Amino acid sequence: MAEQFDAAIIGAGAAGMMCAAVAGQRGKKVVLIDHATRLAEKIRISGGGRCNFTNIEAGPNNFLSGNPHFAKSALARYTSRDFISLVKKSRISYHEKHKGQLFCDRSSEDIIAMLKAECDAGHVTWRMPCKIVGINKEGEMFSIQAEAGQINAEKVVIATGGLSIPKIGATDFAYRIATQFGIKTVDPRPGLVPLTFNAAEWQPFVDLAGIALEVEVETGEKKARGHFREDLLFTHRGLSGPAILQISSYWQPGTALKLNLLPEIDVADALIAGKNGIKKNLGNQLAQWMPSRLAEGWLLANGFNPDARVADLSDKALRQVGQSLNHWTIIPNGSEGYRKAEVTLGGIDTRTLSQQTMMVEAVPGLYFIGEAVDVTGWLGGYNFQWAWSSGVAAGLSI
Ligand code: FDA
Repeated sequence: MAEQFDAAIIGAGAAGMMCAAVAGQRGKKVVLIDHATRLAEKIRISGGGRCNFTNIEAGPNNFLSGNPHFAKSALARYTSRDFISLVKKSRISYHEKHKGQLFCDRSSEDIIAMLKAECDAGHVTWRMPCKIVGINKEGEMFSIQAEAGQINAEKVVIATGGLSIPKIGATDFAYRIATQFGIKTVDPRPGLVPLTFNAAEWQPFVDLAGIALEVEVETGEKKARGHFREDLLFTHRGLSGPAILQISSYWQPGTALKLNLLPEIDVADALIAGKNGIKKNLGNQLAQWMPSRLAEGWLLANGFNPDARVADLSDKALRQVGQSLNHWTIIPNGSEGYRKAEVTLGGIDTRTLSQQTMMVEAVPGLYFIGEAVDVTGWLGGYNFQWAWSSGVAAGLSI
């Protein structure tokens, strides 16, 4: 005999648990199905184990999507303040780290336990670990063929996330269901991911691995332009750190990144203006403004002599040094891919969904929420806020 529910939610991650808790607490009979053996692994590993669970400033401008207006309604209905109230009610202590990013003081486990308790308060039924073989719609009802037996439900919510970090259970389930029901998707690609460079071209920079500094980085044009001021990290294969993770979501293959390694200083002007009074060599002069290992390595990598006395160099040469630091233009050859990406860009095309409820307009009763949808946040707690907000939007509708 098939089990009967008002709603089946597939994927017990951030968005799925939030959605199940809200619907359950409204009195709906809800089943939450997940194939994983451990609950909410992505929440567990997030924020270095402390879960950056929201951002105080979270608003529609912090998201990328084919339709930048789509997220407005859900984000306004369930804001970061609403989630903070839930965190406070659950007596979870937290702190602000940087630019409005809120982290648990203790561990991500606190957020998982809170969401589990909210699901319990809504009498949510669990099927986990449980593989799903297929979903069909027959008349008004959906039937789900699951390892644990057949489940019938009036509403189905797909909350299976994106493709990032396959080793902890990410799958293309949401996109497969979209294809089955004729729902458009935007091609997925890794986001918030370190960028890599051609090995031969990167060779001069390999010795800089491990150096970090605050930079400005930009790419793209007009509406698709990304611009951030954050920390950059040199790695053996390329660039990482918050500045690069942020810009990676805006970067298009084949296009350039523009970096300013010393955004506070016009290097050429400073060197030329003070040239005759500067007794130091070029390497030591730059080391006043940046880590000395970077100053020396940078000059060598760009063909300048760190031991040359600044006073002996031509204005033209000093301008070239300044240009290299204030206007570094480089073309990545790719990214570290889904293995390292924190999120997946693209997904279910927002034009197919109701922005109030997350329901597929052409398939009544079918919903998509969270990272599966073509709404991707910046680094800094925005992606969880989208999971909570889209989860609540669907939870209030199913
Ligand atoms: P999520 O991935 O959370 O859940 C999907 C669920 O579906 C999983 O439980 C999975 O097992 C299940 N599932 C998948 N396929 C299935 C199938 N075929 N059948 C059944 N179940 C299936 N964001 C942020 O705001 N702050 C942060 O600090 C971080 N930190 C961070 C670190 C790292 C290393 C990563 C990889 C990601 C982050 N993120 C983040 C991003 C954040 O984790 C992510 O955006 C949300 O977890 C997305 O929530 P969802 O519920 O949509 O998917």
